[in-house]
Amino acid sequence: MTASPLPPIVLDHPLVQHKLTRLRQASTSTAGFRRLTRELSLLMCYEATRSLSTEPVGIETPLERMEGRQLSGKKLCFVSILRAGNGILDGMLDLVPAARVGHVGLYRDHDTLEAVEYYMKLPDDVAERDCIVVDPMLATGHSAAAAIDRIKASGVRTIIFVCLLAAPEGVACLSARHPDVQIVTCSIDRGLDEKGYIRPGLGDAGDRLFGTR
Ligand code: URA
Repeated sequence: MTASPLPPIVLDHPLVQHKLTRLRQASTSTAGFRRLTRELSLLMCYEATRSLSTEPVGIETPLERMEGRQLSGKKLCFVSILRAGNGILDGMLDLVPAARVGHVGLYRDHDTLEAVEYYMKLPDDVAERDCIVVDPMLATGHSAAAAIDRIKASGVRTIIFVCLLAAPEGVACLSARHPDVQIVTCSIDRGLDEKGYIRPGLGDAGDRLFGTR
């Protein structure tokens, strides 16, 4: 029997929705797009790390001794799906500066339509870490699912997928192939158009982040 997929977490916080609306606007500059992506990434990271385990630790405040809590358990690795995933890393690393970072690069073969890996570099100890895989747009879901195939093949057990926007098609594809992977997103939009863009979306996230066309 296959496990039922985890329902996606959609961040409905007013600050997230406000920043996402600014991000979507065609008139937002490259600098503004980067800043908003960084801020939204930090907020998504906050949600994605909600279930990290903690342990008690004794500390001294200037006034007295107390028992605080500190992170315990597995360390984190962020994995960016190239190239647009790199735009999400800065905000995540603001919040978890000690996390390791991996990169996966994939392109779609025009004949077979399969995702072909052209680059993959993960930390040596990735199997001992929980992974947060980042890509701003979950469109068809094929590259996210293919990247997660490879990360699981490296021995990683717990994976969370974080994106700014998702299409229902992408959520369905990723949930079918990796029902154990929690999706965290700011919005599930209407759907994909015939060119594979998420509608209403925000356009090409990589181009808007890096000022290319
Ligand atoms: N990738 C993007 O950058 N934008 C989309 O709308 C879909 C995939």
